[in-house]
Amino acid sequence: MTTYTLRKGSPAKTRTDVVVIGVARTSQGDLAACAGAEEVAEAYGRRFKPLLSSMGFRGDAGEVLRMPTAGTIRAGQILVVGLGASDDLTHEGVRRAAGVAARNLGNAATVALALPAHDAEHVRAVADGFISGGYSFKRYKSRSDEAGLADVSILSDAARRHEAIAALEAARIVGDLVNRARDWVNTPPNDLTPELFADEVVALGKELTGRSRKPKVRIEVLGVEELEKLRCGGILGVGGGSASSPRLVKLTWQPPDARASVALVGKGITYDSGGLTIKPGSSMATMKYDMGGAAAVLNATFAIAELGLPVAVTTYAPMAENMVSGNSMRPGDVLTMYDGQTVEVTNTDAEGRLILADALAMAAEGDHDAIIDVATLTGPCIVALGEKVAGLFGDDETTRAVAAAAEASGEMMWRLPIPDESREAVRESKIADVLQHNWVRWGSALFAAAFLHEFVGDKPWAHLDIAGPAWNTGGPWGHVPSGGTGYAIATLVAYAAALADSTGEPAVDEQTA
Ligand code: BES
Ligand code: MN
Ligand code: ZN
Repeated sequence: MTTYTLRKGSPAKTRTDVVVIGVARTSQGDLAACAGAEEVAEAYGRRFKPLLSSMGFRGDAGEVLRMPTAGTIRAGQILVVGLGASDDLTHEGVRRAAGVAARNLGNAATVALALPAHDAEHVRAVADGFISGGYSFKRYKSRSDEAGLADVSILSDAARRHEAIAALEAARIVGDLVNRARDWVNTPPNDLTPELFADEVVALGKELTGRSRKPKVRIEVLGVEELEKLRCGGILGVGGGSASSPRLVKLTWQPPDARASVALVGKGITYDSGGLTIKPGSSMATMKYDMGGAAAVLNATFAIAELGLPVAVTTYAPMAENMVSGNSMRPGDVLTMYDGQTVEVTNTDAEGRLILADALAMAAEGDHDAIIDVATLTGPCIVALGEKVAGLFGDDETTRAVAAAAEASGEMMWRLPIPDESREAVRESKIADVLQHNWVRWGSALFAAAFLHEFVGDKPWAHLDIAGPAWNTGGPWGHVPSGGTGYAIATLVAYAAALADSTGEPAVDEQTA
């Protein structure tokens, strides 16, 4: 267990294993100590910059240098993290630098963060980045000898201000749930079947209780019998091929002071083999992360409830395993969805849209200000936008609000269209109401979004295709670890917070000193 404290204090006089400071690069190519680092720089005096330069430190974002202080300041070591160009310091830059710091502490037990934290927003960025960047998944490592971090102090002049204390508290709530989502995504598919996934959600819901010890969020788990009664042909069709039967988990956060209402829907394919339209081996290896959308919306809902945001949230997480067996759905099958529309299946590997169709139709029955779905939906979206940027689809108003929340959270997404051409293509089934897939290679992320649109009708709606950013194939960067990233939670929480502030949109990330 790590304890976090926010306090006023001099980084030069703090007794701790490691002091973390930020150093940026000026337009002249000079090094510049950032806010929070001044006293450390002063203690080193004129030696400070030449010392860093002699170690090859340039102040670039992502750069890190750890060295002994040899008594220059009280701490045993300083960890210098690069913040990039000094005239372009953003909250996201600070968040990423704090994440880099968290991963480079060596075997320190205590650390003091002297990064820019002069106001509540910066305290939030430092805490967010540090909690997120320190994540690692060790559940399956039988030999792990790390003692772990005991104490983290965030040094801030605003330490006694109510907003700063609240910012740290919020960062801890959201950070823990982002890390929980990563755990779920990283858990191998044999240990996270739809049934076990639903159990995890119920267990987490029981942990998160209010003062009365009553769970804050209502949880319903629908099994096969209930799904049959509700005629959820998409979830049953996809889940039918697996020995582990499908589930639909529904969460409800209904605060008494709700000012708005949102429905969230997340794709929960615990493993995507492709089904009879089977994937090549190399594409299958990481398909445990095909439940990243469900992990995101579920944890975002818990975070919104823990923060007590006055926004009602109804969340649907359809869970199924897409497998090959005598009970698998076939290309050629016609399924009847929850809303009664029939769908001609032509590619069992386009399974995500089928389970989402039932859940979106359910969400569309409610009276919500917006429906947002989050799904690792298409490889083609990764082709379009790369691994770090999500595709954002939907109506102008909803996508604008989601994009603003993403901007404030530092999550990268980009609007893509649903052209009439795709809207027509999904109606071109010869035998059913809707065509699931048309085997045209071009624009298939758009086709998938057009398919989903058929099940939300004209309701305010945004769709996030997170096939890229839900998983980090490469090494860690900023506060983002390898493997499951927890992408979209920060945006969804910021979106709900902005809805709660009747002003509409969150403050845009400003330049910081
Ligand atoms: N889960 C995949 C999408 C995916 C691919 C996520 C790669 C993450 C990384 C989805 O179910 C799928 O198989 N999509 C098809 C879409 C195609 C049928 C238009 C794909 O990517 O090939
Ligand atoms: Mn698939
Ligand atoms: Zn899939």
